[in-house]
Amino acid sequence: MRKLKSAISILLLACSMPVGAQQSYMIADNVAVFYPKNFDAGQHLPSPIFVRELVPQGNLKAGWRLQPAYSQEGGHSIVTFNVGDDVDLYGTGEVLGDLRRNGDHNIYWNRDNGAYYHNNGKQLYQTHPWVLGVRKNGSAFGIIADNTWKSTLQTGAEIKFDSEGPAFRTVVIERNSAAEVLQELARLSGTYDLPPLWALGYQQCRFSYHPDSKVREIADRMRAERIPCDVIWMDIDYMDGFRIFTFRPDEFPKPKALNDYLHAKNFKSVYMIDPGAKADSSYFVDRQGTAGDYWVKTADGKTFEGNVWPGKSHFPDFTRPEVRSWWAGLYKDFMAQGVDGVWNDMNEPAVFGGPDLSMPEDNMHGGGEGLAPGTHLRYHNQYGFNMVKASREGILRANPDKRPFLLSRSNFLGGQRYAATWTGDNASSFDHMVHSIPMTLNMGLTGQVMNGPDIGGFLGNCTSELMAHWMSIGVYFPFVRNHSCSGTVDQEPWAFGSQVENVCRTAINRRYRLLPYIYTLFREAAETGMPVMRPAFMADDRDAALRAEQQVFMLGNDLLIIPRWAKTAALPKGDWDVMQLEKADDGYQAYVALRPGAVVPMANLYQNTVEYRTDSLTLMVNPDARGMAEGCLYEDAGNGYGYRQGDYAQYRLKASVADGRLMLSMEKAAGKRAAAPKTLRVGLVADGKVTYSPWTKAGTVTMRAVKDKHPSIDRRQLKWSNLDLTKQPTTLQVTGN
Ligand code: NOJ
Repeated sequence: MRKLKSAISILLLACSMPVGAQQSYMIADNVAVFYPKNFDAGQHLPSPIFVRELVPQGNLKAGWRLQPAYSQEGGHSIVTFNVGDDVDLYGTGEVLGDLRRNGDHNIYWNRDNGAYYHNNGKQLYQTHPWVLGVRKNGSAFGIIADNTWKSTLQTGAEIKFDSEGPAFRTVVIERNSAAEVLQELARLSGTYDLPPLWALGYQQCRFSYHPDSKVREIADRMRAERIPCDVIWMDIDYMDGFRIFTFRPDEFPKPKALNDYLHAKNFKSVYMIDPGAKADSSYFVDRQGTAGDYWVKTADGKTFEGNVWPGKSHFPDFTRPEVRSWWAGLYKDFMAQGVDGVWNDMNEPAVFGGPDLSMPEDNMHGGGEGLAPGTHLRYHNQYGFNMVKASREGILRANPDKRPFLLSRSNFLGGQRYAATWTGDNASSFDHMVHSIPMTLNMGLTGQVMNGPDIGGFLGNCTSELMAHWMSIGVYFPFVRNHSCSGTVDQEPWAFGSQVENVCRTAINRRYRLLPYIYTLFREAAETGMPVMRPAFMADDRDAALRAEQQVFMLGNDLLIIPRWAKTAALPKGDWDVMQLEKADDGYQAYVALRPGAVVPMANLYQNTVEYRTDSLTLMVNPDARGMAEGCLYEDAGNGYGYRQGDYAQYRLKASVADGRLMLSMEKAAGKRAAAPKTLRVGLVADGKVTYSPWTKAGTVTMRAVKDKHPSIDRRQLKWSNLDLTKQPTTLQVTGN
C-alpha cells in the first residue's frame, strides 16, 4: 500500500513538474513562440493580440535565452520564466502600483473598481498579459502570454502566468533596448492610429452635464474665460432612461442642434455608449437584438439579464461577427446627429451585483470566424476588446472620411488598434495623482499610447490644491480630460477660484503651444509604437538611477516633465535645461526641461485645434556640448486619411552654434504637402532662461548665441515646493460605482 501511495505521489509530482515547451519556432528576427505540449488551438485562436496569425520562420535559435516552463496545477495552466534578479520589469498593463513592476502582481479579470479599492488596484478594467524586462546593460525582452482566460501574473526573478484555462502559447522578444522591444510589440500587435488633432486638445467632462443648456453653458464659459478647450463630453444622463443610442426628449430634445452649437464654437462632442441594452421590448435596440438573438446566454441557453444603469439589461455577444456588424450599424443614425467621438464605458462588462461585478463565468458566447463557442471564463477579458472593435467599425462606417475617436474603459492587449483608454474611476487624492504617472507610463510600455487619468480625480471631492497640481502635470499626458463623478464638487478650471483658474489656464495654454511637438509624437507612435509619454529611464537606459524613477517623466524624447512636488526625483544626466515659459511663476506649473541636442516646435497661443496653425512657430533649442540640436515637425490636415496618400509634410529642424551665432534651418524631409511659408523665431534655452530671436520669414534663422556651451543644469536651482503629499487631506467619498 505504501509503495502504491509513493508511486502515486511520484506520478502526481511528475504531472506538476514544469516542462519546457513542446514546440518552439522563430516568428521574426529574435522573436520566438513557444507552444505547450497539450496546446489546443480551438481554445485560444484566433488570438486577439496579433495583427495576423504567427507564422513559423524556422527552428528556435540555438542558445535562446528565455524559455518557458509549463506545468498544470489544480486545473490551472502555469507558465514560468526565470528572468533572474538583475532585470527591471515594466508594462503588465493596467494596475495601480509602481513603475518598476518587480515583486508585484496583476489579476487579469477585468473589473469595475471604483477608487481602485478592490484588491488594492491590482485588478482593474483591462488585461494585458505582457511584461517588458530591461537588463542592466540596457538590452531588453518582452514576454506575451497569448491567453484571454481568467489568470494572474506574478513578477519577480520568476515571472509566472497562472491561468484558469487550458495551456497557452507564449511569445518572447529579444532586443537591444526597451524602445526596440516596444517597436516589435507594435509590429506584432498594431499601433494606436493617428487620432484626429482635436482629440489631443483639452477635454471637459463630468458625470453628467445635463440638460443641454448646461453643456452650452460650459462651452460658453470656456471661451469667455479663454481656457483652450476642444471637447465637451456627454456622460449617461443624455440618454432616454439610460437607453443606449437614444437622447432623452426632455433634456436633449435636439441633439443635432446642440452639436451644431458646439461646432460653431469650435468644440467637438463625445457621447457615451455602454454595452448593456435596457430589456424593454418597446425599445428598438432591445427589439433588434432579441429578434437577431444577439445576446450573451446563460449556461442553460437563456438570454442573460443583468442590472446596469437602465435596470435589467441584455448584453451583446461581441464574439459573434454578425453581432459586431449589427452593433456597428447602430452608429450610423447616432453619429448623424453630429456626434464627433464615442465613449464605450462599463464594458468589462460591469453588472451591478454580479459575481466580481460582472456576469457569471459559465455564461456562454457564440464565437464565429474561427473563434469557438465558449464560456465567459474565456471571453470575459476580451469583452471590451470585441466591443470596441465593433464600435470603431461602426464609427468608420458612419464617417469614412474622418479619423474615429473612441475611448474605452475595458480592453485587452492589442486593443490599442481600436480605442484609446483612461485609467477608470480613480479618486480625488494626491496618492492617485502621483500614481497616475506610473500607471500611464506602464500602459505606454504595454502598447497603449493614448491614455491618461481623470484629471482632478473621479470619486470624492477635489480640492483647489489638488486641482492646481493635477492640471499642472496632466496637460503633458497623452490624453487630457478633466472628469468627476456625480455628487462631487464642480471640477471645471474655474470652480476653485481665480488663482486655480489661472494655474489651469497657464497649464492648458502650454499644452496647446506644445501641440506641434505632441502631434509629431502621435505620428511617430502610429508608425512605430513608441509611447508618447515615456519613463525617465528611456532617456538613458544604462543609468541604473533612472530605472525606478516615476515622479518625473518624458514627453517624447525631448521634454522632461518635473512636477513641483517631485522632491526626490532622479534626473537624467546631461544639460537638460528648464524652459521658463512664463514671466511669473505660479508655484504649480511643472518644470519642462529640454534635452540637450533637441529642437522642439511650439505654436502661438490659440483656443482650440480648429485655430491650430503651424505657419508661425517658436523653435525651442538647447544645443548640446557640440553646439548642435535637431528636431522634427509633422503636419497634415489634422483629420481624415489624406496623409496616407502623402498629404503631409515632415520637416527636419537643425540648429548649430558656431562663432557665437546660432543658425537654425527648417527643411522639408518627407510628404507631398506643399511646404507652407513660415514665420519662425528661435527660443534659445540656456541656464533656465529663454532668449528669443526676432521673428523671421526665412526657412533659416540666425541669432547671436548666448553661450557656445551650456553648463549642466544646476539641480539646486529647481526650487522644490514644500508640499508634503502624505499630509494632504483627501476627502474621499466613494459614491456610485
Ligand atoms: C463609470 C465610468 O468609469 C465613469 O467615468 C462614468 O462617469 C460613469 N460610469 C457613469 O457613466
